[in-house]
Amino acid sequence: MNKPNYQEARVRTKNKVNVRHYEIEESAKQVGIGKKYYLRTYGCQMNEHDSENICAMLEQMGFTETNDVKDADLVLLNTCSIRENAHNKAYGMLGRLKHMKATKKDLIVGLCGCMAQEEGVVNTILTKYKWVNFAFGTHNLDKLPEIITKAIEENKQNIDVVSEEGDVVEDIPVKRASTIKAYVNIIYGCDKFCTYCIVPYTRGKQRSRRHQDILKEVNELKDEGYQEVTLLGQNVNAYGKDLDDNYGMEDLLEDVAKTGIPRIRFVTSHPWDFTDRMIEVIAKYPNIMKSVHLPVQSGSSRILKLMGRRYTKEEYISLFDKLRKIPNMHISTDIIVGFPGETEEDFEETLALAKYCKFDNAYTFIFSEREGTPACKLPNKVPEEVKEERLQRLNAVMNQYFLESNQKLLDKEFNVLVDGKNETGKTSLSGYLENNKLINFDGPDELVGKIVKVKVTEAKTWSLNGKLV
Ligand code: 5AD
Ligand code: SF4
Repeated sequence: MNKPNYQEARVRTKNKVNVRHYEIEESAKQVGIGKKYYLRTYGCQMNEHDSENICAMLEQMGFTETNDVKDADLVLLNTCSIRENAHNKAYGMLGRLKHMKATKKDLIVGLCGCMAQEEGVVNTILTKYKWVNFAFGTHNLDKLPEIITKAIEENKQNIDVVSEEGDVVEDIPVKRASTIKAYVNIIYGCDKFCTYCIVPYTRGKQRSRRHQDILKEVNELKDEGYQEVTLLGQNVNAYGKDLDDNYGMEDLLEDVAKTGIPRIRFVTSHPWDFTDRMIEVIAKYPNIMKSVHLPVQSGSSRILKLMGRRYTKEEYISLFDKLRKIPNMHISTDIIVGFPGETEEDFEETLALAKYCKFDNAYTFIFSEREGTPACKLPNKVPEEVKEERLQRLNAVMNQYFLESNQKLLDKEFNVLVDGKNETGKTSLSGYLENNKLINFDGPDELVGKIVKVKVTEAKTWSLNGKLV
C-alpha cells in the first residue's frame, strides 16, 4: 500500500522529470470483460480530461460504459479537492454507493483524482470507508489497469497513491468526449503554492510535456478533423520552465498556431508568468482565440501578498490593460472572497478592481479552508455570513458587467463553432464565439462541427441568442 504524504508532496527538487510510456499487461485486458463501469467526474477540465484517459483504459481492460450507476459492476469517482463543497459531493456519492453495495456485494467502488492525493481523505477511507475497494492518485493514473486488477484479484482494499514528484507519461489511451473539441495537456502540477490552494499538493511538481509530443498530438487531432484544442495546465504560462530546451509558452503557442488547427484555447494563466511576447503571439495568430482566463483572486495588494500571488493590484491592471488592447479580447477571472484577514476595505478594493476591469466572465468563490495549506494557519478568519454577503455583493456587480459585455455584441456577426444541439431545446443549435461566449440559434444538424457566421440578436447575462447568416 502506498499512502499520500504531504511532506513528500511539498518537496520540489531540480531533478529532471522522467518521461515514461504507458503500458498495459496482456492479462489486464481480460479483467473487465462482460462488466460495466460508471465514471463520475468532479471538478476542472484537467479532471475531465483525466476521465477521458480513464474511460479508454477501462475499455482496454474490457469494461463497457454505462450511464446508469445501478447497472454498473465498477463505479469510479474522479474527485476534486479545490473547495469543501467538492469534497461533500464525493462523500455524498460514497454514502449512496455504500447502500448499493449492501445489496450488490460484488460491486467494485474506487476513488481517484485529487481527493485521493489528500492524506486526510485516504486516512478516512482506510478507517471509515473500508468497503471502498481501491484508490489511486493523480500521479499514477496510468497504473489504473494494474491497481484495479489487483483490487479485484486479491479481493481486498488496494490503496496506491504516490506523492513523489511524479513523471510525465505519454501514450495513455484516450476516449475523447467530443469529436470537435479536444483537450491537450501541456503541463502537469503547479509550483506556485498560493497559500490557499491544495493543487500543488494534489497535482505535484510542475512538469511540462516535451513540445514535440504536444505538437504531434495537435497535428494528429487536426488530421482527425478536430476544430479546436484547449491547451491545459494549472498554470500554462509556466510551460517549459522546468525543461532545459529554452522553449516556452510563447514558442509553443506559435508552433501550435502554425499547425493550422482552426481554434486554439489555453487555460489557466497565472499573471506572474505572462510575458509581452506571449501577448504578441496571441495578437498575431487568428487561430489563437482572443480569450484569456486571468485569475486575479483579490483586488487588494495586501491580501494578494497573504495569498502568495506574487503580483500587486497595479501589476495585474498593467497586464490586463495590455491584453485589453488586443481587438475583441475577452478576459475572464477567478475571485476569492473572505480570505483570512480580508477587511471591508480590502473587499471594496476587489469591487473597485472589478469595476475597472469589467470582466467578460468570472468565477467567484468563498474562501474554503484546505487542510495542510498555509492559509489555514492565518489569523482573522472572516465569519461565514460576512463571506456570503460579500459574495452576493460581488456577484451582483459582476453579473451586470457580463450583461454589458454581451450587449456590446448585439447586431454584430461572429464566427461560431457549432458544438451540438442546444440543451435547452428552445433553439436547435448552440456553439461558441471566438471569445468563448455561448450562443444559441436555429440551424440544420449538418452544421454541427462546422464554423459558421451567426448574428447576435439577443444578449442575456450568461448567453446570447442569434441567427444564422
Ligand atoms: N477556496 C476558495 N477558492 C479556491 N480556489 C482555489 N483554492 C481555493 C480555496 N481554498 C479558486 C481560485 C482558483 C480556482 C480554480 O479556484 O480562485 O483560481
Ligand atoms: Fe493553485 Fe496558485 Fe497553482 Fe493556481 S497557480 S493551481 S491557484 S497554487
